[in-house]
Amino acid sequence: MQTLTNKRILLGITGGIAAYKSADLIRRLRDQGAEVQVIMTKAACEFITPLTMQALSGKPVHIELLDPVTEAGMGHIELARWSDVIVVAPATANFIARLSHGMADDLLSAICLVAAVPILIAPAMNQQMWLNAATQANIQNLAARGIILAGPASGMQACGETGPGRMLEPLELVAAVNGLFETRALDGKHVLVTAGPTQEAIDPVRFISNRSSGRMGYAIARAAQEAGAEVTLVSGPTAIPAPERVKYVPVKTAEQMREAVLAQAAKQDIFIAAAAVADYRCAEIAGEKIKKTAADLVLTLRKNPDILAEVAQLPRPPYTVGFAAETTAVKENALIKLRSKGLDMIAANRVGDGLGFESDENSLEVLWDGGTISLELTSKDKLARQLIDIVARKYNEKHPPQSY
Ligand code: PMT
Repeated sequence: MQTLTNKRILLGITGGIAAYKSADLIRRLRDQGAEVQVIMTKAACEFITPLTMQALSGKPVHIELLDPVTEAGMGHIELARWSDVIVVAPATANFIARLSHGMADDLLSAICLVAAVPILIAPAMNQQMWLNAATQANIQNLAARGIILAGPASGMQACGETGPGRMLEPLELVAAVNGLFETRALDGKHVLVTAGPTQEAIDPVRFISNRSSGRMGYAIARAAQEAGAEVTLVSGPTAIPAPERVKYVPVKTAEQMREAVLAQAAKQDIFIAAAAVADYRCAEIAGEKIKKTAADLVLTLRKNPDILAEVAQLPRPPYTVGFAAETTAVKENALIKLRSKGLDMIAANRVGDGLGFESDENSLEVLWDGGTISLELTSKDKLARQLIDIVARKYNEKHPPQSY
């Protein structure tokens, strides 16, 4: 069965050695019934000829930003309107950096800026370039803007090194494109996510907080949005840009987070609490900066409300997923939280010693009444998608879609 019949795919090819695989990709996409138009950067033309791509796609290849042949010299607008999806394969480190900074100085980058359709990029580069902090920051930025990442794979590279940075194989990319057109698991659902730490003031300049970066919660918000949900993200202070196409509610303290969550909870189908809410706040916040005159300083702390438990105890609660951050007996402690707070599901992670908090990767033990799934250590983006799949499946079991 052809899975991409009548789908219009704009394939961007940038200047990397993996460009030779794009020739096969065109053939594979067309085998599935897709119409493919190709845009090449000038550097891509150094690796593979436009003539090859023209022969395989059956259409002229586009290279110039200002093309007098297309209507009114606005080729980029025409092409963006034509497409159902834009796939950039290979996407070099340079292209990723330019996309991240919103450049529009060649045809492909201008189209990506003007497009209102999903953009999927397949990175391909030397492993050090991929691991470089600048590339990783660009990738995070693109992910936050809703750009979909396919790969890279790890393995032997054209430069002789081994590591992450290989472009996915054409058939894997076809599968990723297919995924974009599948009915999405949370279409039309309302999902509320909390993320990040809370900050509890001690005096006007000091606060109590924790090491949560917000990465896990933001990845969950993006994964839920990609799965078709209308997402509200209530976030404590983080250094991550707010994801696009997500309703973003910034807060600082646990009490503000509680207020924001309770204002939204009744309208939600699913609530996922990934925030590391401070368990205690100062019983009294000093009006002035506390002087360091005393040898010992005693702060009286007062327990914060448990936001997750409050949501789970609402008369008509959403499907409620908690997190458990544990240093020991991860599963056992998570089960206690699942039951004592009356949750539908809990995702437990081991924390401390560089695990869970702050890092780019995580692993989860997902538990519900009568079941458990272990999700192996992987990037928080990938883990979030796996978690959202499980949540969608269990939510649909609890609330089977109505058939008429
Ligand atoms: O942000 P990152 O750097 O990516 O790190 C991710 C993470 C480790 C913070 C995340 O994966 C995680 O584990 N989040 C929950 C952290 C936590 O506070 O766990 P807990 O076991 O103390 O709390 C259990 C649950 O109750 C959590 O869902 C928490 O959001 C919720 N809670 C806790 C206290 C409180 N007053 N109100 C709450 O709602």
